[in-house]
Amino acid sequence: MKVDVNGSSMELKVGDITKQKTDAVVNAANGTLMGGGGVDGAIHKAAGKELLEACKWIRDHELNGEQLSTGQAVITEAFQLPASWVIHTVGPVWGGEEEKLKALLADCYRNSFKCAMEKGIKSISFPSISTGVYRFPIDLAAQVALTTIMEFLQRNDFGQVVMTLFSDKDYEVYATALQRLLDNEGEN
Ligand code: APR
Repeated sequence: MKVDVNGSSMELKVGDITKQKTDAVVNAANGTLMGGGGVDGAIHKAAGKELLEACKWIRDHELNGEQLSTGQAVITEAFQLPASWVIHTVGPVWGGEEEKLKALLADCYRNSFKCAMEKGIKSISFPSISTGVYRFPIDLAAQVALTTIMEFLQRNDFGQVVMTLFSDKDYEVYATALQRLLDNEGEN
């Protein structure tokens, strides 16, 4: 499913983010930036050990040895991946005040775009941030992700956005959320 938003495109597809050929891919990392399971593990494995070195450099030089806060994003090269850049962001762990969690998840998408714009990146692939190990309900996450992406594309001249879903089931959830968003826009 692909929609045009103000001259940019947003596409939903089923796939493995480590195979995406967009300028940047987004990693659903944790605050340590030292890798993990899920998308994070897959990206580090495919990119090679230089990615971990680059993450360590960011932690030591840009974050003063601190963790990357939830909702924030940093960018590194992508080494052995087909993409050129990896944008690492930390999604919220589900549990607690829903509005706060939704705002933090929206921050992940917004701050990833901010990193991308700073590098002149024109195409980006996102995974479904927070809906794996971090247990954010996927229907709610889809609504937040797609609303935030659409808002960004409406306000900025960007290029290509791909939501890379890891299963047909996840794709269906995102496609339903996107259709609902488009229907609502049509009514307004
Ligand atoms: N490509 C695309 N999507 C993937 C891939 C992949 N190669 N591997 C997993 N996914 C999907 C999962 O199916 C899930 O829908 O990405 C979504 C996000 O899941 P997680 O990777 O578990 O990310 P998240 O929920 O944000 O949890 C982050 O997981 O491994 C750790 O270090 C990471 O601690 C952090 C936590």
